[in-house]
Amino acid sequence: MKNLFDIKHRVVVITGGTGVLGRAIALHLAEEGAKVVILGRKAEVGHALAADIKAAGGEALFLTTDVTDRARLEQNLSDILAAYGRIDALLNAAGGNMPGATIAPTGTIFDLKTEEFQRVLELNLTGTVLPTQVFLRPMVEQKRGAIVNFSSMAAFRPLTRVAGYAAAKAGISNFTAFMAAEVARKFGEGIRVNAIAPGFFLTEQNRALLTNPDGSYTERGQDVIRQTPFGRMGRAEELCGTIQYLISDASAFVTGTVAVVDGGFNAFAM
Ligand SMILES: NC(=O)c1ccc[n+]([C@@H]2O[C@H](COP(=O)([O-])OP(=O)(O)OC[C@H]3O[C@@H](n4cnc5c(N)ncnc54)[C@H](O)[C@@H]3O)[C@@H](O)[C@H]2O)c1
Repeated sequence: MKNLFDIKHRVVVITGGTGVLGRAIALHLAEEGAKVVILGRKAEVGHALAADIKAAGGEALFLTTDVTDRARLEQNLSDILAAYGRIDALLNAAGGNMPGATIAPTGTIFDLKTEEFQRVLELNLTGTVLPTQVFLRPMVEQKRGAIVNFSSMAAFRPLTRVAGYAAAKAGISNFTAFMAAEVARKFGEGIRVNAIAPGFFLTEQNRALLTNPDGSYTERGQDVIRQTPFGRMGRAEELCGTIQYLISDASAFVTGTVAVVDGGFNAFAM
């Protein structure tokens, strides 16, 4: 019987693959038979992840990258094509925040550091646009491919404090819709562009904001739990099914969407 969700032998590139969410997704996709290319800045972490995947019988390659550096991404593209000859899917998971792009509880908009605001835009938004430009090329030749961008709850309704991150993620949702139409009209329906909007998952980028050193929730962490009908944070593994759906034939007529994976956070008002 045909498995609509089959991703065996597909070459999947994950930027920020060394992060907490990226790692869980990479392990799952490799388990499903995909060839996983982990792109990240931390060589030690990336090589260890590729080794873990291989030890479990999967196929993986780690390459160091910087999603804001076009020359480095072009080199990554050559290396990936030399190793696997094609790219079937791109997951733009690299992202993060910086203290100066946020406003402290006692601060105001006047405290926002515009240089750091711009760096957060560059990492998250330009860091999605640039890899898209570079890794889309083989997809255009193949007339087939799937891109999944990483948006956020902050894109739907800006959360307090994280001004730069929210603006960048809203830009990513908008760019996702733009690109869906752009590639379908110019290169055909074989290339699809969607986004995933995770709710709250405890990872390195938000640990200090949501938890105290002893592991208990900060006031903001408690606010998140109160606002989430499931009453808990997400587990990284809970993103894997949606990602697999978006890069497989199961979503063949789906493009330009933002898939929410949030335990009900976005649906809940009071
Ligand atoms: N954790 C959450 O609750 C949550 C919610 C919504 C969206 N997201 C998004 O999910 C994605 C994955 O984040 P995560 O939670 O796993 O965080 P993480 O900090 O664990 O992972 C982010 C990864 O991006 C990498 N990275 C940072 N700058 C880079 C650069 N210039 N070039 C290449 N890689 C770079 C980091 O090294 C890290 O491996 C991010 O885009 C994040 O914004 C996370």
